[in-house]
Amino acid sequence: MAEPGVFEVMYTTRSLRRLKPDPVPDEVIYRILDAAIRAPSGGNTQHWRFLVVKDPQIKQQVQQIYQKGWSEVQAMYRTRTAPAHMAEEKFRRLLDAAAYLADHLAEVPVLLFACLQERPLPAHLAARLARLAGSSIYPAVQNILLACRALGLGATLTTVSALYEEELKAVLGLPADVSTYALIPIGYPRGKFGPVQRVPVEEVTCVDRWGTPFTRPT
Ligand SMILES: Cc1cc2nc3c(=O)[nH]c(=O)nc-3n(C[C@H](O)[C@H](O)[C@H](O)COP(=O)(O)O)c2cc1C
Repeated sequence: MAEPGVFEVMYTTRSLRRLKPDPVPDEVIYRILDAAIRAPSGGNTQHWRFLVVKDPQIKQQVQQIYQKGWSEVQAMYRTRTAPAHMAEEKFRRLLDAAAYLADHLAEVPVLLFACLQERPLPAHLAARLARLAGSSIYPAVQNILLACRALGLGATLTTVSALYEEELKAVLGLPADVSTYALIPIGYPRGKFGPVQRVPVEEVTCVDRWGTPFTRPT
Protein backbone atom coordinates (compact mmCIF):
# COMPACT_ATOMS: atom_id res chain seq x y z
CA MET A 1 0.00 0.00 0.00
CA ALA A 2 1.32 3.49 -0.88
CA GLU A 3 2.49 5.54 2.10
CA PRO A 4 0.48 8.72 2.79
CA GLY A 5 2.02 12.13 2.06
CA VAL A 6 3.71 14.13 4.81
CA PHE A 7 0.82 16.58 5.34
CA GLU A 8 -1.75 13.81 5.49
CA VAL A 9 0.46 12.10 8.08
CA MET A 10 0.76 15.28 10.20
CA TYR A 11 -2.96 16.02 10.02
CA THR A 12 -3.97 12.51 11.08
CA THR A 13 -1.34 11.56 13.68
CA ARG A 14 -3.30 11.54 16.90
CA SER A 15 -2.61 9.75 20.16
CA LEU A 16 -3.77 6.15 19.82
CA ARG A 17 -3.79 4.48 23.22
CA ARG A 18 -5.92 1.42 22.53
CA LEU A 19 -3.53 -0.96 20.80
CA LYS A 20 -3.65 -4.59 19.74
CA PRO A 21 -1.18 -7.02 21.32
CA ASP A 22 -0.10 -8.34 17.89
CA PRO A 23 3.69 -8.21 17.51
CA VAL A 24 5.36 -5.50 15.46
CA PRO A 25 8.20 -6.90 13.30
CA ASP A 26 11.73 -5.73 14.14
CA GLU A 27 12.20 -4.50 10.55
CA VAL A 28 9.33 -2.08 11.12
CA ILE A 29 10.76 -0.89 14.45
CA TYR A 30 14.15 -0.45 12.80
CA ARG A 31 12.57 1.68 10.06
CA ILE A 32 10.86 3.87 12.66
CA LEU A 33 14.13 4.37 14.52
CA ASP A 34 15.94 5.08 11.27
CA ALA A 35 13.43 7.90 10.71
CA ALA A 36 13.89 9.06 14.34
CA ILE A 37 17.63 9.56 13.91
CA ARG A 38 17.08 11.87 10.92
CA ALA A 39 15.91 14.51 13.42
CA PRO A 40 18.01 17.53 14.37
CA SER A 41 19.89 17.71 17.68
CA GLY A 42 21.75 20.62 19.28
CA GLY A 43 25.24 20.86 17.78
CA ASN A 44 24.41 17.66 15.85
CA THR A 45 25.52 15.76 18.95
CA GLN A 46 23.02 12.94 18.29
CA HIS A 47 23.27 11.96 21.93
CA TRP A 48 19.89 10.24 21.74
CA ARG A 49 19.67 6.67 22.88
CA PHE A 50 16.68 4.36 22.38
CA LEU A 51 15.51 1.29 24.21
CA VAL A 52 13.05 -1.12 22.56
CA VAL A 53 11.28 -3.08 25.28
CA LYS A 54 9.42 -6.24 24.27
CA ASP A 55 10.12 -8.54 27.23
CA PRO A 56 6.80 -9.28 29.02
CA GLN A 57 8.30 -9.16 32.52
CA ILE A 58 10.07 -5.87 31.95
CA LYS A 59 6.90 -4.42 30.38
CA GLN A 60 4.98 -5.48 33.49
CA GLN A 61 7.46 -3.67 35.73
CA VAL A 62 7.30 -0.60 33.51
CA GLN A 63 3.50 -0.67 33.71
CA GLN A 64 3.62 -0.62 37.51
CA ILE A 65 5.87 2.45 37.44
CA TYR A 66 3.75 4.11 34.76
CA GLN A 67 0.58 3.52 36.78
CA LYS A 68 2.09 5.22 39.81
CA GLY A 69 2.98 8.27 37.73
CA TRP A 70 -0.37 8.26 35.95
CA SER A 71 -2.38 8.04 39.16
CA GLU A 72 -0.71 11.23 40.42
CA VAL A 73 -1.21 13.09 37.15
CA GLN A 74 -4.76 11.76 36.76
CA ALA A 75 -5.67 13.04 40.24
CA MET A 76 -4.60 16.51 39.10
CA TYR A 77 -6.48 16.38 35.78
CA ARG A 78 -9.69 14.90 37.21
CA THR A 79 -10.12 17.92 39.52
CA ARG A 80 -9.72 20.31 36.60
CA THR A 81 -12.21 21.47 34.02
CA ALA A 82 -11.48 20.90 30.35
CA PRO A 83 -9.17 23.33 28.54
CA ALA A 84 -11.20 26.23 27.06
CA HIS A 85 -10.98 24.85 23.52
CA MET A 86 -12.23 21.40 24.47
CA ALA A 87 -15.71 20.13 25.33
CA GLU A 88 -15.93 18.65 28.82
CA GLU A 89 -17.03 15.28 27.46
CA LYS A 90 -14.10 15.11 25.07
CA PHE A 91 -11.69 15.92 27.89
CA ARG A 92 -13.18 13.09 29.99
CA ARG A 93 -12.77 10.73 27.01
CA LEU A 94 -9.10 11.74 26.76
CA LEU A 95 -8.58 10.97 30.44
CA ASP A 96 -10.40 7.64 30.08
CA ALA A 97 -8.17 6.69 27.12
CA ALA A 98 -5.07 7.66 29.10
CA ALA A 99 -6.30 5.54 32.03
CA TYR A 100 -6.90 2.63 29.65
CA LEU A 101 -3.31 2.88 28.44
CA ALA A 102 -2.01 2.90 32.02
CA ASP A 103 -4.00 -0.27 32.75
CA HIS A 104 -2.94 -2.09 29.56
CA LEU A 105 0.60 -0.86 28.98
CA ALA A 106 2.21 -4.28 29.40
CA GLU A 107 -0.02 -5.70 26.63
CA VAL A 108 1.36 -3.23 24.09
CA PRO A 109 3.88 -5.10 21.89
CA VAL A 110 6.62 -2.44 21.93
CA LEU A 111 7.47 0.12 24.58
CA LEU A 112 9.99 2.45 23.02
CA PHE A 113 11.99 4.69 25.35
CA ALA A 114 13.56 7.83 23.92
CA CYS A 115 16.53 8.83 26.07
CA LEU A 116 19.40 11.28 26.11
CA GLN A 117 22.93 10.65 27.25
CA GLU A 118 23.33 13.66 29.53
CA ARG A 119 26.38 15.80 28.89
CA PRO A 120 27.86 18.21 31.42
CA LEU A 121 27.45 21.88 30.48
CA PRO A 122 29.70 24.75 31.55
CA ALA A 123 28.28 26.34 34.72
CA HIS A 124 27.65 29.72 33.05
CA LEU A 125 25.30 28.04 30.55
CA ALA A 126 23.75 25.26 32.61
CA ALA A 127 21.09 27.29 34.46
CA ARG A 128 19.99 29.21 31.36
CA LEU A 129 19.75 26.05 29.28
CA ALA A 130 17.95 23.99 31.93
CA ARG A 131 14.49 24.77 30.57
CA LEU A 132 15.57 23.49 27.15
CA ALA A 133 16.29 20.01 28.52
CA GLY A 134 14.80 17.54 26.10
CA SER A 135 14.96 19.80 23.07
CA SER A 136 17.43 17.43 21.41
CA ILE A 137 15.19 14.38 21.76
CA TYR A 138 11.65 15.62 21.08
CA PRO A 139 12.21 16.24 17.34
CA ALA A 140 13.23 12.55 17.11
CA VAL A 141 10.16 11.60 19.14
CA GLN A 142 7.92 13.47 16.71
CA ASN A 143 9.59 11.63 13.81
CA ILE A 144 8.76 8.39 15.59
CA LEU A 145 5.08 9.35 15.93
CA LEU A 146 4.88 10.35 12.27
CA ALA A 147 6.71 7.25 11.06
CA CYS A 148 4.36 5.06 13.11
CA ARG A 149 1.35 6.75 11.51
CA ALA A 150 2.81 6.37 8.02
CA LEU A 151 3.37 2.67 8.65
CA GLY A 152 -0.12 2.08 10.07
CA LEU A 153 0.93 1.87 13.72
CA GLY A 154 -0.65 3.62 16.68
CA ALA A 155 1.50 5.44 19.23
CA THR A 156 1.41 8.15 21.92
CA LEU A 157 4.04 10.40 23.39
CA THR A 158 3.96 9.72 27.13
CA THR A 159 6.03 11.12 29.97
CA VAL A 160 4.42 10.12 33.29
CA SER A 161 6.83 7.22 33.84
CA ALA A 162 9.62 9.78 34.23
CA LEU A 163 8.01 10.86 37.52
CA TYR A 164 9.65 7.72 38.89
CA GLU A 165 12.83 8.03 36.85
CA GLU A 166 15.16 6.31 39.32
CA GLU A 167 12.92 3.23 39.61
CA LEU A 168 12.56 3.16 35.86
CA LYS A 169 16.29 3.36 35.30
CA ALA A 170 16.81 0.41 37.64
CA VAL A 171 14.23 -1.71 35.79
CA LEU A 172 15.70 -0.79 32.39
CA GLY A 173 19.34 -1.05 33.49
CA LEU A 174 20.08 2.49 32.31
CA PRO A 175 23.47 3.94 33.21
CA ALA A 176 23.55 6.99 35.51
CA ASP A 177 24.14 9.43 32.64
CA VAL A 178 21.24 8.23 30.47
CA SER A 179 17.78 9.71 31.19
CA THR A 180 14.39 8.88 29.74
CA TYR A 181 12.41 11.67 28.10
CA ALA A 182 9.52 9.78 26.55
CA LEU A 183 7.94 6.38 26.54
CA ILE A 184 6.16 5.65 23.27
CA PRO A 185 3.88 2.59 23.34
CA ILE A 186 3.64 1.25 19.76
CA GLY A 187 1.20 -1.26 18.32
CA TYR A 188 -1.44 -1.79 15.66
CA PRO A 189 -4.38 0.45 16.55
CA ARG A 190 -7.86 -0.63 17.56
CA GLY A 191 -9.13 2.88 16.69
CA LYS A 192 -8.73 5.09 13.64
CA PHE A 193 -6.16 7.73 12.74
CA GLY A 194 -7.02 11.48 12.82
CA PRO A 195 -8.19 14.01 11.88
CA VAL A 196 -6.31 16.01 14.49
CA GLN A 197 -8.16 19.05 15.79
CA ARG A 198 -6.31 22.07 17.14
CA VAL A 199 -6.91 25.73 17.98
CA PRO A 200 -6.40 27.58 14.65
CA VAL A 201 -3.15 29.32 13.70
CA GLU A 202 -4.61 32.84 13.95
CA GLU A 203 -5.51 32.30 17.61
CA VAL A 204 -2.00 31.26 18.59
CA THR A 205 0.17 33.47 16.38
CA CYS A 206 1.25 37.13 16.40
CA VAL A 207 3.16 39.19 13.85
CA ASP A 208 6.33 41.14 14.66
CA ARG A 209 5.41 41.88 18.28
CA TRP A 210 3.17 40.18 20.83
CA GLY A 211 -0.43 41.36 20.51
CA THR A 212 -0.64 41.91 16.75
CA PRO A 213 -2.63 38.96 15.44
CA PHE A 214 -1.57 37.01 12.38
CA THR A 215 -4.72 36.90 10.30
CA ARG A 216 -5.55 34.18 7.86
CA PRO A 217 -4.73 35.27 4.29
CA THR A 218 -7.84 35.39 2.13
C1 LIG B 1 4.97 16.49 26.58
C2 LIG B 1 3.81 15.53 26.44
C3 LIG B 1 3.58 14.60 27.43
C4 LIG B 1 2.53 13.69 27.32
N1 LIG B 1 2.39 12.74 28.28
C5 LIG B 1 1.38 11.84 28.17
C6 LIG B 1 1.28 10.78 29.11
O1 LIG B 1 2.09 10.62 30.01
N2 LIG B 1 0.26 9.88 28.95
C7 LIG B 1 -0.64 9.98 27.91
O2 LIG B 1 -1.54 9.14 27.82
N3 LIG B 1 -0.55 10.97 27.00
C8 LIG B 1 0.45 11.89 27.08
N4 LIG B 1 0.59 12.87 26.14
C9 LIG B 1 -0.33 12.92 24.98
C10 LIG B 1 -1.28 14.12 25.02
O3 LIG B 1 -2.29 13.88 25.96
C11 LIG B 1 -1.86 14.31 23.61
O4 LIG B 1 -0.81 14.65 22.74
C12 LIG B 1 -2.89 15.42 23.55
O5 LIG B 1 -3.98 15.11 24.38
C13 LIG B 1 -3.39 15.62 22.14
O6 LIG B 1 -4.00 14.44 21.71
P1 LIG B 1 -4.25 14.13 20.17
O7 LIG B 1 -2.91 14.24 19.53
O8 LIG B 1 -4.80 12.76 20.14
O9 LIG B 1 -5.17 15.17 19.64
C14 LIG B 1 1.65 13.75 26.20
C15 LIG B 1 1.91 14.69 25.19
C16 LIG B 1 2.98 15.55 25.29
C17 LIG B 1 3.25 16.52 24.16
